[in-house]
Amino acid sequence: MLSSKVTDCNAHGQDSSYFLGWQEYEKNPYHEINNPNGIIQMGLAENQLSFNLLESWIENNPTATQFKNNDDHSVFKELALFQDYHGLPSFKKAFVQFMSEIRGNTFTFDPNNLVLTAGATSASETLMFCVANPGDAFLIPTPYYPAFDRDLKWRTGAEIVPIHCSSSNGFRITRSALEDAYQQAKKKDLKVKGIFVTNPSNPLGTSLSIHELDLIFNFISTKNIHLISDEVYSGTVFSSPKFTSVMEVLKNKNLMNSEVSNRVHIICSLSKDLGLPGFRVGAIYSGNGDVVSAATKMSSFGLISSQTQYLLSEMLSDRKFTNIYLSENRRRLKHRQETLVKGLQKVGIRCLKSNSGLFCWVDMRHLLSSKTFDGEIELWEKIVYDVRLNISPGSSCHCSEPGWFRVCFANMSEETLILAMQRVKSFVESMSKKNNRNRHQQMLHNSARRTKSLPKWVFSLSLNQLEVGEQR
Ligand SMILES: Cc1ncc(COP(=O)(O)O)c(C=O)c1O
Repeated sequence: MLSSKVTDCNAHGQDSSYFLGWQEYEKNPYHEINNPNGIIQMGLAENQLSFNLLESWIENNPTATQFKNNDDHSVFKELALFQDYHGLPSFKKAFVQFMSEIRGNTFTFDPNNLVLTAGATSASETLMFCVANPGDAFLIPTPYYPAFDRDLKWRTGAEIVPIHCSSSNGFRITRSALEDAYQQAKKKDLKVKGIFVTNPSNPLGTSLSIHELDLIFNFISTKNIHLISDEVYSGTVFSSPKFTSVMEVLKNKNLMNSEVSNRVHIICSLSKDLGLPGFRVGAIYSGNGDVVSAATKMSSFGLISSQTQYLLSEMLSDRKFTNIYLSENRRRLKHRQETLVKGLQKVGIRCLKSNSGLFCWVDMRHLLSSKTFDGEIELWEKIVYDVRLNISPGSSCHCSEPGWFRVCFANMSEETLILAMQRVKSFVESMSKKNNRNRHQQMLHNSARRTKSLPKWVFSLSLNQLEVGEQR
């Protein structure tokens, strides 16, 4: 009944544990009063920490939601009839100003290079559609945002080839990892069209270092390929090292308006930086006129409604507000991240050192029953069903090492986060008791086998010593 484009393609990734965890959460969601034993959602990269700042702005600026301009005239009719796919000029101007502000005003964005889209999801698919033919490949560092399989591949027919990064250097991109991925693509007979990075990274919560950016720029220059940088978490950088946008790299290397700059594009969104995923506001920024023109035409398939654009143009042109929002939001994120990191540390769980994002990348390798992806899923199921926390296993982010999990911290109240950590603590304690018991039984068993031939008094002496040793 349906087209083969829909039925034959499994690139949507709906079966991934990332989405399955959400389904389990939906069946039994935690609520502090109505369902205190339910599953706590820690698999959703949503920022609710600064929501009250947005609400206060709305309350203090009623004309914006009443669709009135500064002269108190209604703009309702204009907005209701507006359908230009270039977007409202006032909104694009305010949006690029906000993008610059997030990046410490180190780069001035030109509104003419901006294409508005319904969120970063639509932006990345549109961009992929513009630069890759079906079957062309993009190299993506692992671990990566699970929904890229859907957003980049499903409808465009493009392929993803992983750049495998490992815990041995904090999941940093290396020259050899880039080269290996490129060779892998060649072996599969895929034409490499570019590199797609997420900076700051989801799920790592780290921003790319200058060294990594240099490697990437050298690579795209020599291979003559594109670079797409998904910078939707740029406003969440709460501590050093500083975030560097690929646009700043172009400027610092004197590559603006060069042939390389034609192949560098960024993806932005207000879903994370302003905590408004429901408003569906995203954008492509590119210095390549052909990409901007093609993407603008394609943006008809996913426009941002004009009343959303109007409201946000008013909000984002309030520089006093954006300034306070950005710094307060960073402060709150830092506090949250520290609360989670310290809470987990107390029970012997380490997080990758991070400086950004709405999540931590958590190392639970020591809790695996076997160092395999089956072992990871076994642990994940215990955490979802017994501990009742929905977190995302590293395998859903294509991590090449089992035992890492993404844990989100900004979509809940502080009390809920503390409850989540209490649940983790009880779980870790019960696991270590169980492990101790198993080890004890194993030692008893081994020592009984070894002492079978010894006289009885030697056996009971060795048992006593064993128990004393265990108690230490
Ligand atoms: C790296 C990354 N890119 C894109 C998106 C999608 O963002 P949007 O809500 O703007 O479509 C997300 C959402 O989680 C994300 O983590």
